[in-house]
Amino acid sequence: MTEEQVKHAKSPVAGRIALVTGAARRLGRAIALALASEGADVIVHYSGSAAEAERTATEIRRRRRQAWTIRADLSDPSQAEGLLPEAARAAGPVDYLINNASIFSSSQLTDFTREDFEANVQVNALSPLLLARALAAQQREGAVVNLLDARIADYDRGHAAYHLSKRMLHTLTMMMALEFAPRVRVNAVAPGLILPPPGKDESYLRKLVNTNPLRRIGTPAGIAAAVLFLLGSDFVTGQVIYVDGGRHLRGCVYG
Ligand SMILES: NC(=O)c1ccc[n+]([C@@H]2O[C@H](COP(=O)([O-])OP(=O)(O)OC[C@H]3O[C@@H](n4cnc5c(N)ncnc54)[C@H](OP(=O)(O)O)[C@@H]3O)[C@@H](O)[C@H]2O)c1
Repeated sequence: MTEEQVKHAKSPVAGRIALVTGAARRLGRAIALALASEGADVIVHYSGSAAEAERTATEIRRRRRQAWTIRADLSDPSQAEGLLPEAARAAGPVDYLINNASIFSSSQLTDFTREDFEANVQVNALSPLLLARALAAQQREGAVVNLLDARIADYDRGHAAYHLSKRMLHTLTMMMALEFAPRVRVNAVAPGLILPPPGKDESYLRKLVNTNPLRRIGTPAGIAAAVLFLLGSDFVTGQVIYVDGGRHLRGCVYG
């Protein structure tokens, strides 16, 4: 056995098929590559980032795993509903779904528009549910990991519509864990300061390091490790791992 085969033989995700939404760039790409490094085949979902999605797929194939790229606009419920069946037609039954794709808009409760509210709920909460329902409809064992946000514990007044949508996905994580058991486990990872939002640089994160007790910025590899842990933990469901330097321990306004 080669070193790579020995490593894969030990990994619970080896030989599985995973669909990662928003996997062309940033955290989604890190999760997709970590899955491939552990021996999983990966469907790389993207929306606007076609070239980056192909680059992620190339990196997966370099790890000697299969990769497919599929485009879907998750602001459209019919495209969200069709994505997992399309992935299964291309790759075979899907074992793992990682609901990573997300929008992140600035808005306050006092003035957000109906369009902003609906877009956040659709992409960040309803589409993950539609995708997970399609996974559960395969009538076989599987696992889902939803990407939340550590700020769900605290009131994020500057991103009100986004905050509501992530709190909804948090509740959906528990609801789905109950509804889709015993075949499908549903868990979540709640990142803290990891990558600066679009249009900001590292200085944006550095100014915020004192908001977490560990006074550090986390890494995409740390998020991917938490996702892999949940996928491989076959007696864990309805759980949230905060990868946030302890940020969620401060200011838990929701109790
Ligand atoms: N970055 C952080 O530090 C951080 C902190 C807290 C929580 N999170 C959560 O962790 C996850 C990943 O974070 P990230 O910063 O890497 O995310 P991101 O870059 O903001 O977005 C990930 C991907 O979502 C896709 N997406 C957006 N709108 C879409 C739509 N309508 N249809 C389909 N796909 C769409 C985009 O794909 P295309 O590029 O292909 O269009 C994008 O690349 C997200 O759920 C985020 O909320 C991240």
